[in-house]
Amino acid sequence: MLFRQLFDKTSSTYTYLIASGRGREAVIIDPVKEQLSAYLGLIEQLDLKLVRAIDTHTHADHVTALGDLRNQTSCITVMGEFTKADCVSEHVSEGDKIELDGIQLEAIYTPGHTDESFSFLWRQSHQQAVFTGDVLLIRGSGRTDFQGGDPRKSYDSIVNKLFQLDEDTLVYPAHDYKGMMCSSIFEEKYFNPRLAGKSEAEYAEIMNNLNLPDPKMMDVAVPANLACGQAN
Ligand SMILES: [Fe+2]
Repeated sequence: MLFRQLFDKTSSTYTYLIASGRGREAVIIDPVKEQLSAYLGLIEQLDLKLVRAIDTHTHADHVTALGDLRNQTSCITVMGEFTKADCVSEHVSEGDKIELDGIQLEAIYTPGHTDESFSFLWRQSHQQAVFTGDVLLIRGSGRTDFQGGDPRKSYDSIVNKLFQLDEDTLVYPAHDYKGMMCSSIFEEKYFNPRLAGKSEAEYAEIMNNLNLPDPKMMDVAVPANLACGQAN
C-alpha cells in the first residue's frame, strides 16, 4: 500500500496521495495549486497513474490543483454532488464508491463546514481511514460561518455520521495548524474539546462565537476553486 501525507506550509493544508503500490493507479485528495510540481514529481518517481483528483469541498484558504492535475495527467476531477464548481467531471453522492486498482473510497456527505462538503472513507482489510476535509479537524472542527456553513449540520455530520464509524478508524483532516498529522474516531469522540460531551446546542454556541477573521485568500481562492483553480 502506498500512502503519502503531503503538506502545504502556506495554508497548512494536508494533501493525500494513495495507491495500492508503485506503478499502480492513484488518487489525490485536496491538492494545492502551488504544490503541483511536487505532486507531479512524486507521481513520476513512484510510476503512478493518477486517475482521480478529489476536493472534499470548495476551499477558501488555498487554490486547488484539480484543474492543473486534470490538464497534466488526464485524471478525472471529483467533488460532491452539491458543489457549485462546474469544472468538475465527476460528482459523488452519499454512499458512492470510487474504485481504482486495489483502492476503494466511499463518499460520505458531511455538510456543516460548507453545504457541499464530503468525507471519504478508505477501507482496507485491517485498518480504515477517513479523510474529513475541514468538517472534523484534530481536536477541532472547521468553521461554520460562511459558504453555507451551519453548526447544527456540522454537529450532525460529525456525531451522527463520522462518530458512528469504527473507533479505530484513522482521521486525516485537510488542515492542521499545530502539526498534528493524524487522529482517530476514538480520540475525537472522547477528547475533541468542541464535541466530547457537548450537546448540539452547546456545539452551536461554541461555533457561533469563534469570531474568526475571513481567510486571507478567500476572495481569490473561492472564485478560483469554482473553476478548479484555473480562473484568472
Ligand atoms: Fe475549508
